[in-house]
Amino acid sequence: MIFSPIKIGSLDVSNRIVVAPMCQYSANNGVMTDWHTQHLMQLGYSAAGLVMVEATAVEEVGRITHNCVGIYNEKCIQSLKKNIQLAKSVAPNQSCFGIQLAHAGRKASTQRPWEGRSSLTKDENPWKTICPSPIPFQETWHVPQEMKLSDIERVKKKFISASLKAVEIGFDLIEIHGTHGYLLHQFLSPISNKRKDKYGGNLENRMRFPLEIFSSIKDCLPKDFPLGMRITGTEWENNGIDENEATMFVKELEKIGCHYVCVSSGGNTPSPKIPTGPHYQVHLANKIKKHTKMVVRTVGMITDPIKANNIIINQDADMVAMARAFLSNPRWVWDAAKVLNHNIEVPPQYARRI
Ligand SMILES: Cc1cc2nc3c(=O)[nH]c(=O)nc-3n(C[C@H](O)[C@H](O)[C@H](O)COP(=O)(O)O)c2cc1C
Repeated sequence: MIFSPIKIGSLDVSNRIVVAPMCQYSANNGVMTDWHTQHLMQLGYSAAGLVMVEATAVEEVGRITHNCVGIYNEKCIQSLKKNIQLAKSVAPNQSCFGIQLAHAGRKASTQRPWEGRSSLTKDENPWKTICPSPIPFQETWHVPQEMKLSDIERVKKKFISASLKAVEIGFDLIEIHGTHGYLLHQFLSPISNKRKDKYGGNLENRMRFPLEIFSSIKDCLPKDFPLGMRITGTEWENNGIDENEATMFVKELEKIGCHYVCVSSGGNTPSPKIPTGPHYQVHLANKIKKHTKMVVRTVGMITDPIKANNIIINQDADMVAMARAFLSNPRWVWDAAKVLNHNIEVPPQYARRI
């Protein structure tokens, strides 16, 4: 059931409920603010087995907006450390904390969602974006600079140093952001990757950059340090990554020591036709799970505790992540425990709640 423990690499996670990574667009120069402190502290005592910290940029140009969190200088690192220590200090159920390491590629240099989500205009201090090929996300967006081999090597090094810092900070797990149209996804997808060199063309070449990033991180982490990737189950486009390509990518990740994948979808094209609705991505996790022994996490419009529990019972996935459900109810796990008749530890200060 969702309350049974699970192991990811060397990490014992107390239950299978995950707070999905959620950008708060509230940092200053990559540094977390008081908003993050309250956000992460309340998720700290949510009793979720794993709390994922938002997409965190490995270099400044890899931020989505001016207000995204980074892990690329000492100030950012100290703010991450402070906030994780605070969140852990109020986590009675020993929730684990993971960080999602990210690079936005051609989807960087944009406004925050509540400011319009478009490319930054000239007077909003935009920066030059990068991508495997000079193809903008949509017509009105910045045309990204095609990455040279030296850029590829630089970004690889940034992911390695970010990972080493994440371990030093005290994160229990690292997730590489490989979906939602960000840099690694841009390489994997034939829609955004038209390169003629060894990083473009057939699937083997398109997979090369994300797999190299993964291997180079893996090589420098302590043995069995929990390391996974958020991936694209489908792009919901005829000419994009489909479930078969996603499965092939997962098999390669497994070969190089990946511990888990979280199966999401879309994000690399402006308006794919996504059949959204409750559990709309569970079938993608189910398909992947049939082809791998790795831990498989699902996500997407999961809100009901009994139905979430059934995902695990039916073996569609091994873990269930939720984003918006935790925004509207950070006590989701406490309520689910009641519904499913399971005992969890609640902070004594709040034990008398109705
Ligand atoms: C406010 C917000 C911020 C998000 N930020 C991230 C992020 O940093 N990284 C990521 O992989 N997905 C991000 N997502 C996507 C969620 O992790 C999740 O996959 C998506 O919202 C679907 O799950 P849900 O239906 O439970 O909300 C974000 C979603 C929301 C609502």
